[in-house]
This record gives sequence, C-alpha cells and structure tokens, in this order.
Amino acid sequence: MSRSRWSSLVDRALEASVVGSFTRVGSSLRAQGEAWTDPEHLSRRRVLVTGATSGIGLAAALRMARLGAHVHLVGRNPQKLSDAERQVAAVSEGDVYSHLCDLSSCHGTRTLADQLGSSNLLIDVLVHNAGALLSNFTLTTEGVETTVATHLLNPYLLTEALLSSNTLAPAGRVITMSSGGMYTQRADIDKLEMTAADYSGSVAYARAKRAQTLLSQYWTRRYGDSGRGFHVVHPGWVDTPGVDEGLPLFSKVMGPLLRSPDQGADTLVWLAGQADGEPASGQFWHDRHPRSLYRVPSTRLSPEQEVHLGNDIATWCDERIAAVLGPE
Ligand SMILES: NC(=O)c1ccc[n+]([C@@H]2O[C@H](COP(=O)([O-])OP(=O)(O)OC[C@H]3O[C@@H](n4cnc5c(N)ncnc54)[C@H](OP(=O)(O)O)[C@@H]3O)[C@@H](O)[C@H]2O)c1
Repeated sequence: MSRSRWSSLVDRALEASVVGSFTRVGSSLRAQGEAWTDPEHLSRRRVLVTGATSGIGLAAALRMARLGAHVHLVGRNPQKLSDAERQVAAVSEGDVYSHLCDLSSCHGTRTLADQLGSSNLLIDVLVHNAGALLSNFTLTTEGVETTVATHLLNPYLLTEALLSSNTLAPAGRVITMSSGGMYTQRADIDKLEMTAADYSGSVAYARAKRAQTLLSQYWTRRYGDSGRGFHVVHPGWVDTPGVDEGLPLFSKVMGPLLRSPDQGADTLVWLAGQADGEPASGQFWHDRHPRSLYRVPSTRLSPEQEVHLGNDIATWCDERIAAVLGPE
C-alpha cells in the first residue's frame, strides 16, 4: 500500500473516532503520515491575530513570526499584550505590532478598524481567534451577550470594515477559529443570542462557533470573486489557559491527551501560508483537511438552508451593530 493511501486510511479512521482525531494522537499521526512541512508563503505576509496573548493565538503568532510574517497582535490586556509582543519579537524574522482592543465591544472594534483603515496598511491574513467559553451569563457594556459578541458580532464588524476600507489585501484571507463543539448545535437564528433565562455556556459557545461556519460561507458567496478566501478551522482539544478556565474537569481528565498550543495552531498557520487563491474558500478545516460541517444528524442543514441562514446571520449582525453603534 502506498504511503498516501495509508495516510488517507489513518486520517479517516481518526476522523471517525472523534477522540482520536481531536486529541494529540490525531495531530501526531497525521503529521508523521503526511510528512507535514511548514507552509511556504508566510514570508513578508502581514498577519493580524486576535486573541494573540495566550494559547493557540500566541502559538500561531510565534510560528508565523518565525516563518517571516509581519505580525500584528491584538489583545485586551495591556500587560499580556506587551509580554506577547516581547516573546514574538524575540523570534521574529519580520516586524511586530500590537493593538489593544476588547473584541467584545463594537465601539472598541470599530476604533481598531478605523485605526487600521487610516494607516494605509494592507493585511494579508486576518485571524479571528479571540474567544472563551464563559460559564456564566454576561452582557457586554453595550448590552450584547458576551459569547456571541466576541465570537460572531465583532469578527463580522472587523471583517466588513477591513473589506470596505480595502485594508484586507486583494488576495487576502480571513481565518476564523471555530470549535469541534459546534457539531453539537444546529444553526438557528432565533437562538443565536442567549438570554439570562436560558443561558448555558457550552450551548452559547457551540451556537456562536456553528454560526461562524455559515458566516464564512456567506463571505465566500459575497466576496469570493474578489480573490479573497474565507476559512474556518477547528483546532481539536488543546491545552490552553482557556480550556483550564472554561472546562476545568475536561482539562484535568483529558490532560495528557490534549494537544499542545502549537499543534492546535498548526492548521491555522498552514492556511495562512498557502499560495494566493488557495485553498478553495468557504470550507471547514481540521488537521490540514476540509471536514464535514455535520456529525450529528439532527443538526444537518440542506445547502439551501445554509445559504438562507448565512444571509440571516449577516443581517442579524448588521442590525445588532447598528443598534449598538447607531446608523453609519
Ligand atoms: N483550547 C481548545 O481546546 C479549543 C478548542 C476549540 C476552539 N478553541 C478556540 O480557540 C481560540 C483560542 O482559545 P485558547 O484555547 O487558545 O484560549 P486562551 O488561551 O484563553 O486564549 C484566548 C485568547 O482570546 C482573548 N480574548 C478573549 N476574549 C477577548 C475579548 N473580548 N477581547 C480581546 N481578546 C479576547 C484572550 O485574551 P486574554 O488573554 O486577555 O484573556 C486570549 O488572548 C478561541 O476562539 C477558542 O474558542 C479552543
């Protein structure tokens, strides 16, 4: 049997097993079997990473900096941001910049987008990675449920703003860090923003992560012809401060099997470093392969429903942003 046939069989067996795929077992076996190498096109690319002060985002920023990218770090905590900038600058082949922004706030994100837009900067890769699984219901200062504000509303706002100011380069790409947790939830526009009465942290998180996949398809339909690419990734189960805090029991039980942050960041970095126009936009990635959006039959949508819901999610974001910021 050829090496590629053997690797493909291993990949499919891992994918079917869930635990094998999501843990460090999946990452290690696939990396060995497929002889993963560093992506070739990161040198001098301008990359902006949100949630770059910790876990997967910091690992991604470090690796892309080592591969020659100019890296823009976005974080909300000044001390953590300057620590991250120091760490990235120490290994960087390119330039390093940092931007302070709370990405649960539309006003904060709008200011960041305006600063980037007025600086004549071009961004080649926009990485939406900031996020957290919040056990308790919270509203942002702007009155939006925090999970959906951080994972969906503000990534939408930042992407649309950078597209309209042409800050996202003509062959630029947007990569969104979703989660395998999204497999548990069916997309439903009426259930997107949870209330104090019905809030569950894991459900709110999974719904926002599911919505990210439909939004990426929406952007592909709307902007794909411009040469830009929109990709969504799930990193598997990764040993980060976010998992320790959001899922302490899971983190303790799964500890030795969790991926390292570097393993969790691999597909994101790989996508960031592919040639212009590659790979095809609008797909959901894990361990360098496009994956199905569905594992649970009751969550499945038809292609028509995906289009319909993707459009509805974009409209919901527009209306929610207008309610917070006022009309443009
Ligand atoms: N770890 C996993 O197993 C796993 C699995 C699936 C998906 N993910 C996703 O991967 C991404 C990274 O998570 P992680 O595990 O690396 O967690 P992490 O170590 O806690 O990193 C999360 C990053 O997001 C930032 N962040 C959170 N809310 C923010 C806000 N409102 N404004 C600005 N920055 C904010 C955090 O900033 P602070 O440092 O200031 O808190 C931190 O830099 C998240 O989107 C997460 O949902 C992780």
